[in-house]
Amino acid sequence: MSTVPALANGGEGATPRHVAIIMDGNGRWAKKRFLPRAAGHRAGVEAVRKVTRAARAMGIEALTLYAFSSENWRRPESEVSDLMGLLRLFIRSDLDELIRENVRLRVIGDYRRFAPDLVEMVDDALARTAGNTGPILAIALNYGAQAELIAAAKALAADAAAGHLNPETIDEAAIEARLDTRDLPPLDLLIRTSGEHRLSNFLLWQAAYAELLFVDTLWPDFDGAALAEAIGSYGRRQRRFGGL
Ligand code: FPP
Repeated sequence: MSTVPALANGGEGATPRHVAIIMDGNGRWAKKRFLPRAAGHRAGVEAVRKVTRAARAMGIEALTLYAFSSENWRRPESEVSDLMGLLRLFIRSDLDELIRENVRLRVIGDYRRFAPDLVEMVDDALARTAGNTGPILAIALNYGAQAELIAAAKALAADAAAGHLNPETIDEAAIEARLDTRDLPPLDLLIRTSGEHRLSNFLLWQAAYAELLFVDTLWPDFDGAALAEAIGSYGRRQRRFGGL
């Protein structure tokens, strides 16, 4: 994946090829309703369903969702376990639809740190959608951009030490080829919900030229209409990629 998308992919009315979302605000959504945080996460999964369907209908080639960051382990054990449970449930209930809809499921992040049964479920879901040819749904699981870049640096160092790579030739493409997103189109639009203005260790390399959109909507309230509005706002921006 290149961080500098083709110049043609932007400007008036354009649909982004690759959209990534930091799905934030589940806890606050629940708190406003005097519900437990788990209820917010459950509502968050419903939003995932609505938004992935809408993204497909809009012709977005790749959607990357930040479901579990490498920092989320710091949450109480019960909440981590709730999130893992929701992921299991999502795979169980939605995999057939993803297969039917020709979606290519991808995972970014070190999901092998999850419980063995969940790793097996994710591997099975990846295998069962591997032959699909349609839009990509990439889910970030135990993902952190700094860890992703460290892994890329180690891979480059190992190749250099083995004599397969001249360090002088390392360029953007060499790094991108070693990132988890290597099969995805360039990131065009990164959305964060819930009014926070941070990237929180998400797609730091990939966001180099992406348009950033921060919306106040809490994630469980984000739906197809909200995505359409975000795409509309993207289409009104002029992308220059460092040029004039
Ligand atoms: C942030 O809200 C959200 C998360 C840490 C997890 C996002 C997970 C889901 C939407 C459900 C699982 C996803 C899939 C793909 C099955 P927060 O809890 O930080 O909200 P707060 O900032 O209001 O407390």
